[in-house]
Amino acid sequence: MRSLLPALLLTSSVLAAKTLPGGYIVELSSAPASKRFADVHEEFIEALDRRAAGHFRTRRKYKNRLFNGMAIQLDTPQDLADLASLPNVIAVHPIVIHPGPAPVSQRVLTDSSAFAAGTDGENTHIMTGVDKVHASGITGAGIKIAIIDSGIDYMHPSLGGGFGPGFKVAGGTDLVGDSYTGENTPVPDADPMDCVGHGTHVAGIIGANPGNDLGISGVAYNATILAYKVGGCNGGIGDDVIIDAIMRAHDAGADIITMSFGSIDGWSNSLLSVVASRVAEQGVVITASAGNDGEAGPLYMSTPAAGENVIAVGSVENTVRTVQSFKASEPHDPILYRILSYPAVPGPPLGNVTEEPLPVLSIYPFPPDYPTEKCSQLQGLPDDIPDDLSGYAVVVRGTANMDCALMEALALKHPAVAIFYDFPAALQNENNYPAVLLYNDSDGFFLADAFNNGTNITVTFPQHDGAVDVPVADDIGGLMSSYSSMGPSNDLMFKPALSAPGGNITSTYLTELGGWAVMSGTSMACPFAAGSAALVLQAQGQTKLPGSVRSILQTTATSVPASKADNALPASLSWQGSGLVNVWNAINVNTLISPSELLLNDTAHWNDKHTITVQNAGIVAQTYAFSHQAAGTTLALAAGQHDIVGSAQLVSAPVHVSFSQSTVTVAPGSSSSVDVTITPPEGVDADTLPIVSGWIIVKSDSDSLKVPYLGVAGSLSDAQAISTSNVLTKGRDILPGIIPVDEGRISTGPKNYTAKDPSSWPVMWFGLSMPSRLVLVDLIDAAIDVTSNVPHTTSRSAAVEKRAWSSWLPATVKSKLSAPSSVADSATVPIVGALAEFDWLPRSGIYPNSGDATYTVHVVNFANGTKIPLGQYKVLLRVLRPFGNPDEEDDFDVYVSYQIGFVP
Ligand SMILES: *[C@@H]1O[C@H](CO)[C@@H](O)[C@H](O)[C@H]1NC(C)=O
Ligand SMILES: *[C@@H]1O[C@H](CO)[C@@H](O)[C@H](O)[C@H]1NC(C)=O
Ligand SMILES: *[C@@H]1O[C@H](CO)[C@@H](O)[C@H](O)[C@H]1NC(C)=O
Ligand SMILES: *[C@@H]1O[C@H](CO)[C@@H](O)[C@H](O)[C@H]1NC(C)=O
Ligand SMILES: *[C@@H]1O[C@H](CO)[C@@H](O)[C@H](O)[C@H]1NC(C)=O
Ligand SMILES: *[C@@H]1O[C@H](CO)[C@@H](O)[C@H](O)[C@H]1NC(C)=O
Ligand SMILES: *[C@@H]1O[C@H](CO)[C@@H](O)[C@H](O)[C@H]1NC(C)=O
Ligand SMILES: *[C@@H]1O[C@H](CO)[C@@H](O)[C@H](O)[C@H]1NC(C)=O
Repeated sequence: MRSLLPALLLTSSVLAAKTLPGGYIVELSSAPASKRFADVHEEFIEALDRRAAGHFRTRRKYKNRLFNGMAIQLDTPQDLADLASLPNVIAVHPIVIHPGPAPVSQRVLTDSSAFAAGTDGENTHIMTGVDKVHASGITGAGIKIAIIDSGIDYMHPSLGGGFGPGFKVAGGTDLVGDSYTGENTPVPDADPMDCVGHGTHVAGIIGANPGNDLGISGVAYNATILAYKVGGCNGGIGDDVIIDAIMRAHDAGADIITMSFGSIDGWSNSLLSVVASRVAEQGVVITASAGNDGEAGPLYMSTPAAGENVIAVGSVENTVRTVQSFKASEPHDPILYRILSYPAVPGPPLGNVTEEPLPVLSIYPFPPDYPTEKCSQLQGLPDDIPDDLSGYAVVVRGTANMDCALMEALALKHPAVAIFYDFPAALQNENNYPAVLLYNDSDGFFLADAFNNGTNITVTFPQHDGAVDVPVADDIGGLMSSYSSMGPSNDLMFKPALSAPGGNITSTYLTELGGWAVMSGTSMACPFAAGSAALVLQAQGQTKLPGSVRSILQTTATSVPASKADNALPASLSWQGSGLVNVWNAINVNTLISPSELLLNDTAHWNDKHTITVQNAGIVAQTYAFSHQAAGTTLALAAGQHDIVGSAQLVSAPVHVSFSQSTVTVAPGSSSSVDVTITPPEGVDADTLPIVSGWIIVKSDSDSLKVPYLGVAGSLSDAQAISTSNVLTKGRDILPGIIPVDEGRISTGPKNYTAKDPSSWPVMWFGLSMPSRLVLVDLIDAAIDVTSNVPHTTSRSAAVEKRAWSSWLPATVKSKLSAPSSVADSATVPIVGALAEFDWLPRSGIYPNSGDATYTVHVVNFANGTKIPLGQYKVLLRVLRPFGNPDEEDDFDVYVSYQIGFVP
């Protein structure tokens, strides 16, 4: 739980999590305090009515034994103070807005049928043993899977073509309406039709019927699907809606709930993670995508994936990908192409291109060194080509200097289709004619040569048999996807739990946009794991094999190597979890092992002794041998650094493992235990926070299982928690510091701000090198000297740029009205007033291709909304280090700013 006591939450500023201004989820006790009220909600509303200074609005009510409470919208911060003091209030949480479900990439396909019907030749199914499970007749029948996502295009022929009882998509609802953005008021209706495509893709991974043009099928295509639509056509999704959807799915009897979305959080006790975890405790399997932030490095899980009982799913690259092809009239292999789309999601792809052979007309054989000036002089096409190209497939070679108006010029001549080759891969056609880009330039040269030597060559774009599977680039197929988020959770739980295929996945898509798309993301891996769970549940129902789905899938997964090199180390389990799911293994072992994860913690809290229990569920005695397989050790920090960046180093630094006995013979129906002692590796630099992981292998003649373990061979609480470098600002300012709004750079000394211009009053800017469960930002008197254990910083760069303040000054996030008295007591520093307080913050991260995630607090008002009086102050930043005690001043990192004065 996020907080046990009613938390007073007021506005402050933080960049990381986005929250709904004035929106809160109030957790209520189960029974009203007074007998006058039928339920606790009524009592709460009446009390709030009496107390609220402004107005409030009920967003939704939760009446469930797993979560009782209300989501409300308040007008003023004062109401919040009232709210927290009402009877029955257990906790108050801001409504977090999660980004809408989205893949890392997507590509829409034409419909095609290249595959033999009847057998399951789908590559991701072969990688995970699902093909053999299907062949054995297990396809998810009788299992109910709830998909919480953007809705489902249930009219898709491969998804049943209808909605409601009797259809594949048998139930569910739309909790928000198409216009919901996460920030406006949801307008629910009964119809969970998808307008985004994401939920439809997810649904196909679980449930697409076989026998379609693409030759794919869902992992559990006979399962029943419930569609809970929580996202509109654009924007994000509020926690309040997701929690409602989880409760409804649970009430509707879902065996499995799958959620392909989330935000960086990493704490197993965020409200969403906790609610999901409570439902999972009831025996419902919950899968959630690990997140697509792998490039930010370890210790960066998403919520709800971080929930204790939630199965967090990482993504493995498919070994093939589906691409379209057309044929030439001269002998040649099928020519692979992608559609040049504009905007990013195209209309019916090439749906307008005839299936008749089209004569080729080759133009512009630009040499690679074709000069830009010449190109721009052309401003169009050569004179000698026909005005009407509607009967031709126009083959066009590009050049590095493709800035001439060629693509626009071509639009005036209406080509039947334009075939581009030797262009930059990022080429987009913004004009309304069908255009494709060839994957292999040699195919373009072949077409151009044939045209130029007088061959009467034609091309044919098949509408129904053009999809081919081609191997993905050798260096990534079958490996972890670079975007797949890394764990462990901030409390060193085993996250992710396991991995599934998620990169380059072909599945169903909005029917009106062609019906098929290739997408990549942990969003795609997550439903694969949900479908796998359905197969295990169905098999369990048949054989009565006990054990939780999570432990069965974890102990039978297969190891994912870190690279394609010979003798490559297995990827860290903080990335792959226990490995790639293998459903065939999962349903064919006659052994259960528990626990299914060994949590070693860090060296300050190391758990060295574990007991593994082996249960023989078969009909013959089995002798099990115990051994150890280490994965690569991830050095979370580079030597001498305090901020985690994406390029964490993988080294061989295994833990030491010893067993109380190396083999054990277990009679059928019995179980036996073996003690395992695990000690940290020697010779590694503990300051780099080495993440150690691997598996205890338990093997008999017929079964091979593994128990994953994970820990940190260093102490998180010894690591610096406040960032003191410019790593998080990508080489710009060195954090932390005070940044005057009108200067846009961190101050390098004391500074006065005039009362006349409060808009220029400063912002405290900081980054977290480590996750922290308590961050206090206070104003203190300038005369007070406080010992800082992180230094004053100066800006290294001379250039002063203005930043777009409105865009990065962030949304409201929780902060308490005043510091807990325990902290104030142990602190020797008298505080003028609290500026902000944050609990359970994730560490800051940087992404190679996007922004950073640092924190800001505007120094204008106290946390309670009262304006700061004129005077001379300093800002005191205190960050509780991981596993620290909030009552111990020594467990905080402390930073004191330069003097700031507010003068007339
Ligand atoms: C499973 O799905 C297939 C394909 O849609 C269908 O033909 C078959 O009848 C289903 N079987 C059951 C048991 O629902
Ligand atoms: C395809 O045809 C439809 C109607 O027949 C038209 O609206 C659309 O613009 C055409 N698309 C392309 C890419 O030519
Ligand atoms: C013309 O070029 C095509 C493609 O390179 C080739 O297959 C064909 O043999 C050539 N024909 C002649 C007559 O040179
Ligand atoms: C070229 O091929 C097309 C399509 O096969 C055919 O209609 C046409 O007569 C051919 N032209 C010549 C000059 O051979
Ligand atoms: C899909 O496969 C292609 C080709 O191998 C590869 O370049 C690309 O990175 C993959 N895409 C994703 C998002 O995994
Ligand atoms: C590791 O130890 C800390 C401190 O006792 C605790 O808060 C945390 O939950 C532990 N994590 C695990 C996975 O046991
Ligand atoms: C800020 O104002 C105070 C009071 O007027 C003055 O003592 C102090 O020197 C000023 N500081 C700076 C940096 O100008
Ligand atoms: C708000 O907090 C400040 C600083 O702690 C305090 O001086 C002020 O009285 C508070 N205002 C209200 C309305 O409680």
